[in-house]
Amino acid sequence: MIYSRNIREGIPLGDNETMKNVLVAVAWPYANADIHVGNITGSYLPADIFARYHRLKGNRTLMVSGTDAHGTPITVRADAEKTTAEAVYQRYQQRFIDLFSKTGLSYDLFTSTHTENHFRVAQDFFKTLKQNGYLYREKQNVMYSEKEKRFLPDRYVEGECYICHFPNARGDQCDNCGNLLEATQLINPRSRTDGSTPIPRETEHFFLDLGKLAPEINKFLSTGKEAWRSNVLQFARNMVDGGLHGRPITRDLDWGIPLPEPGWEGKRLYVWFEAVIGYFSASMEWAASRGEPDAWKDWWYNPEALTYYFIGKDNIPFHAVIWPAQLIGASHLYGGAKDRALNLPTDVPANEFMNLEGKKISGSRNWAVWGLDAVERYGPDAVRYYLTVNMPESRDTDWDWADFLRRNNDELVATWGNLANRVLTFSYRNWDGRVPEPGELRPEDNELLAKAEHAFAAVGSRYEQVQLRAALGEAMALAGEANRYLDTQAPWFQIKTDRAAAGKTIFTALHVIDSLKTLLAPILPFSSEELQSGFGRKGRLFGTQRIEHRSDSLGSQPVLVYDPSGAAGKWEPSRLEPGQPLAEPKPLFRKLLPEIVDQERARMGKPSA
Ligand code: MF3
Ligand code: ZN
Repeated sequence: MIYSRNIREGIPLGDNETMKNVLVAVAWPYANADIHVGNITGSYLPADIFARYHRLKGNRTLMVSGTDAHGTPITVRADAEKTTAEAVYQRYQQRFIDLFSKTGLSYDLFTSTHTENHFRVAQDFFKTLKQNGYLYREKQNVMYSEKEKRFLPDRYVEGECYICHFPNARGDQCDNCGNLLEATQLINPRSRTDGSTPIPRETEHFFLDLGKLAPEINKFLSTGKEAWRSNVLQFARNMVDGGLHGRPITRDLDWGIPLPEPGWEGKRLYVWFEAVIGYFSASMEWAASRGEPDAWKDWWYNPEALTYYFIGKDNIPFHAVIWPAQLIGASHLYGGAKDRALNLPTDVPANEFMNLEGKKISGSRNWAVWGLDAVERYGPDAVRYYLTVNMPESRDTDWDWADFLRRNNDELVATWGNLANRVLTFSYRNWDGRVPEPGELRPEDNELLAKAEHAFAAVGSRYEQVQLRAALGEAMALAGEANRYLDTQAPWFQIKTDRAAAGKTIFTALHVIDSLKTLLAPILPFSSEELQSGFGRKGRLFGTQRIEHRSDSLGSQPVLVYDPSGAAGKWEPSRLEPGQPLAEPKPLFRKLLPEIVDQERARMGKPSA
């Protein structure tokens, strides 16, 4: 087999059964609004935790995404601000990258759909689907505004949902029942721009022939899906069982990717058709920028690769049904061997939603906690902790400021931060800045060490199954065990009467803390990295992130990249040595004052500054 660069640190991939290629595909945020905590916990953070875990495991991990720059969400915003779509996308691209680097979201590449590379790849997808016989042309009725003398994009039309009768459904999708809609079928349709009543009018478009692809999609959804979340699978199966028919993949618009078809100059590729292709084009951009232009094939054509898509539940139709259909239909794109298709999603672990103090988050009403505000005020790990403990994995959850305060102070600080801090400080002061020499360990020490060792398998399998709350819960339970052990041993008093016993206790506790640092690192990378150097280690756990500027004929933009060099973290129990020097300990987290609850609540729902 000729997969490019199957070598890492000199070890051929195929020879090491445990080393896998893992693609972490993360939802592309629309460039029309700032990102709030609900978005972060919905897809970006779980993706990052999962990617970091796989990196520690030594798997070849590729985490890609970017800004979803096209489509009507962006033009609606530009119209409202009396500026251009280009300017709107540029502004949010910058803000997303700022937020993601401050939050430690370690994208190997965070780019955008507004690049020459993505335009070309999306157009090639279109051409391949057409050649393979999965596109057809058809005249269609689209809502037309007599007043504005133009076709209205689906999102510009609102009306009553013809499925659940929610009165304010959007023309493309109903926010109440989640179903994808046909704007022309809405009951009492109205234009979002001026409230006038649009009328259906004929126009010609290309359609993706989902009907023809249905048997393959069916097969995909009925084999090996045991690990999928039941709501995701249910939703996808319902969609297929309801009968699949062609969907238009072009639009009458001028912002977006032109069709690679002479005579169709006025039309653009539909944003949902091309945005999902971003996973693929971003993998290619990543490979090209490393000077290994074929490296992307290790994730897209290697049948052993694992591909995970991290999205919110409103994106399920596009990732569990339509994107697989596009992948099946575009088989052999860019010279995949004739008998080999593009990899279909291994899993689509979509999350539910997070509310804010009992009400649905609404950016426009400022009923939101903005990512940048939260991370700047409370630090990335405190926010990551709360968003993981409260991640909407199987049901909607709620961000509540009193709960945030309590969990920060009573769990993150009290159970974990203080454990690390008081043991490191005590050791540093009483054993000359070094790890004590324990001599022979006692049964109670060995018992705790064994628990820490077992945690790697238990917590690891939770991360692998994308049960991130459970992963955190089990790691924190080990921290609780360590606290109880310390309460019983009380080395702070032991040292006065039996220094040797205190040395055993502190050695054991340091060991467990060093292991906990790794167990928690995917969720709390900043504090784990501090502990890594606190233990006097040279290597970092993870690589580093940096912002680069890239330009092409479409313009120039910042992108976020992850540089794995220097990453030495391994998913294994501590190998702490007696006598190892420690760095001077610093507190890992900050205890918060109760006042923040009222301060934050007072900010909610007010016009934002
Ligand atoms: N921009 C879309 C949203 O925010 C998500 C797109 S995911 C993609 O809902 F893969 F399609 F880009
Ligand atoms: Zn509905």
